[in-house]
Amino acid sequence: MKNLLATRANPDVSSALAGLFPHDTSDQAISFAPGSPNQQLFPVAAMQAAFNTAIDQAGAGLFQYQTAQGNATLRQQLADRIHKWGQVTTTADNVVLTVGGQQGIDLVAKALLNPGDELAVETPAYIGALAAFDLYQPRYHAVPLTTDGIDLNALEDTLRRHPKIKLLYTVPDYHNPTGITMSTTKRQQLVALANQYDFVILEDTPYRDLGYEHAPLPAIKSFDTQGRVIFLSSFSKILMPGLRTGWLVADGDLLAAILKVRLASDLEANNVVHAAIAAYLTANDLDEHIQNLTQHYRRQRDAMVHALAAYFPEEVQYTRPAGGFFDWVTLPADLDAGELLTHTIQPQAHITYVPATNFYPNRDVHNALRLSYSGLAPQAIDAGMRRLGDELKAAIHATHPVV
Ligand SMILES: Cc1ncc(COP(=O)(O)O)c(C=O)c1O
Repeated sequence: MKNLLATRANPDVSSALAGLFPHDTSDQAISFAPGSPNQQLFPVAAMQAAFNTAIDQAGAGLFQYQTAQGNATLRQQLADRIHKWGQVTTTADNVVLTVGGQQGIDLVAKALLNPGDELAVETPAYIGALAAFDLYQPRYHAVPLTTDGIDLNALEDTLRRHPKIKLLYTVPDYHNPTGITMSTTKRQQLVALANQYDFVILEDTPYRDLGYEHAPLPAIKSFDTQGRVIFLSSFSKILMPGLRTGWLVADGDLLAAILKVRLASDLEANNVVHAAIAAYLTANDLDEHIQNLTQHYRRQRDAMVHALAAYFPEEVQYTRPAGGFFDWVTLPADLDAGELLTHTIQPQAHITYVPATNFYPNRDVHNALRLSYSGLAPQAIDAGMRRLGDELKAAIHATHPVV
């Protein structure tokens, strides 16, 4: 049957999302791999009440076909929210509800990329975005990150050499997988570069409300004067991923193209869920809920940062996230994080993480790894990091013996 499949779906080429979370059944297993939110913090009772309210209010009509763009009340609430926290002035008509942020990435790729089109991504990059982009067979240009976001000099150099780059994908707030946040100055300069070199920016920001040090920075979209930035976010990390609800903000031709491909993909969003989320937002203070989340996640982040300093060998480097779920660890160049995980760290220490390879479009970086602290209590983070630190020390000393 393989000869009948589209190249983009060839099962012999594994998806960037495949095999990420090796299963370890040991009692001692501690996994720093999944970037899932902590389900003990899900507002289940309030959401259940909101579903009842939505059904009571709209009755059978709630279950009827609606519009491709999605629930108008929720779109207005989101337009207000991005104005308040992101300094983006927009209207409900510019908001499109999506099946998680993931569908937003897919819709943007579908609207913009022909096979072979040039796409710039900051690296390392969110694995799910690479998996989505891969299906459209782009020509990738990897642009490295620095401590305050994408390396704009490297980006400009790439743009000079490849002026046909159409789209840049970035996660500016508490980036997955590094935890890095782009400075406000860089956000402004990035839009200026997009205007100069004529490309679209996809600003993907599901973690922007989960800052542990300061309020969210202005969205990149707030500096957009030509309608070339698409803002994308999601309820997955601030409410629950099972709602499968994200949203994007776009203008003009981009908005029209996204609505066109959206209609062909699935006709419309899940109106029942969206009406329930709208009822939840009316009856509850989302910012108060987010404050509660950040208090918990901040403690987990603190435990992780403390453990990195206390237990990791001095030969490794790591990021210091000011929000979000992730830390990025760079090992000496001759160590392969994937090999180490399979051959020693998982079997001997029952610790898992995600090795670097899948976060690079060409799968060509091996000496780094992503640690997630979002699903673990501080004690488990401490215990797991101590074991991981010991394994890394042993691996480094085995390859760099002290003479
Ligand atoms: C950067 C980024 N974008 C998008 C997503 C997709 O999330 P969802 O589809 O659940 O909104 C994730 C999920 O982890 C993510 O980290």
